[in-house]
Amino acid sequence: MPPQIKRLALLFAIFIGLFFVARHFLVPKSFGEFGHYRGLSLAENQALTPKYAGQKACADCHQDMVDLKSPNVHKSVSCETCHGPGLAHVNSTDSILPMWVPKEREFCAVCHTKNAARKAGNIVQVIVAEHNPGQKCIECHNPHNPWKDLK
Ligand code: HEC
Ligand code: HEC
Ligand code: HEC
Ligand code: HEC
Repeated sequence: MPPQIKRLALLFAIFIGLFFVARHFLVPKSFGEFGHYRGLSLAENQALTPKYAGQKACADCHQDMVDLKSPNVHKSVSCETCHGPGLAHVNSTDSILPMWVPKEREFCAVCHTKNAARKAGNIVQVIVAEHNPGQKCIECHNPHNPWKDLK
């Protein structure tokens, strides 16, 4: 056997040894407890506080808004998509915690601005800079029912 094979084999053994030492310190303790992931991550995710209530919860107090929106073009856009997470608002007892009420053009533009990278037809797009500039969208479109009483 040529002498360099022995030296190479020794080097390999050292590297494999180093790999196991590094692995011992780098792999988190709970890895593999339940499967090929960190077991503790389950408890960590369970401990997160929920922030969204879901549209059903809004209907308890805002049935009028649900009725206005549901048969209409914005039916697929959930209340909290526009008003932000609402669980704290729903659960507030002493004084009602405020919700976010986005009134600026920029907000509607997030979904409706003309964007060549977006599939046309999924969401009707307008060139926001040219579509009735200088006025808020909600001065003409009811956000809960955009074609209702259009001014
Ligand atoms: C337990 C009853 C209750 C529930 C459930 C509830 N709200 Fe409200 N909400 C209120 C009250 C009371 C007000 C204040 C009434 C007012 O100012 O006209 C309010 C006001 C609002 C406002 C107006 C805020 C403003 O500054 O003008 C928005 C937006 C709103 N709620 C959205 C929601 C959404 C979205 C949900 C579901 C996630 C929801 N609410 C669930 C009771 C509720
Ligand atoms: C497309 C975005 C959008 C969605 C979806 C939406 N809202 Fe609104 N909402 C607004 C905007 C913008 C205003 C402010 C309207 C204004 O000031 O004229 C508003 C105002 C309100 C208000 C208070 C003012 C008022 O008109 O009495 C309540 C309450 C409210 N929304 C509840 C809801 C609920 C409940 C849902 C779900 C059923 C919902 N909204 C879905 C954008 C939205
Ligand atoms: C989260 C995305 C989203 C936001 C934010 C949003 N929309 Fe929409 N909008 C939609 C979807 C989805 C539809 C239904 C598909 C369609 O018709 O474009 C729609 C439909 C519409 C339509 C009817 C288009 C048509 O010809 O059918 C109008 C008008 C409209 N929205 C206005 C607004 C206004 C005004 C705002 C801001 C208050 C707004 N939208 C905010 C998603 C959004
Ligand atoms: C001065 C009133 C006015 C304002 C402000 C306004 N719109 Fe409109 N919008 C209209 C009218 C009227 C139509 C229908 C005729 C047309 O397509 O121009 C319309 C049509 C639309 C359509 C459907 C376009 C299509 O091709 O079917 C969308 C989407 C829309 N508006 C979104 C918006 C958004 C987003 C804003 C704010 C950035 C806004 N609008 C501001 C009056 C207005």
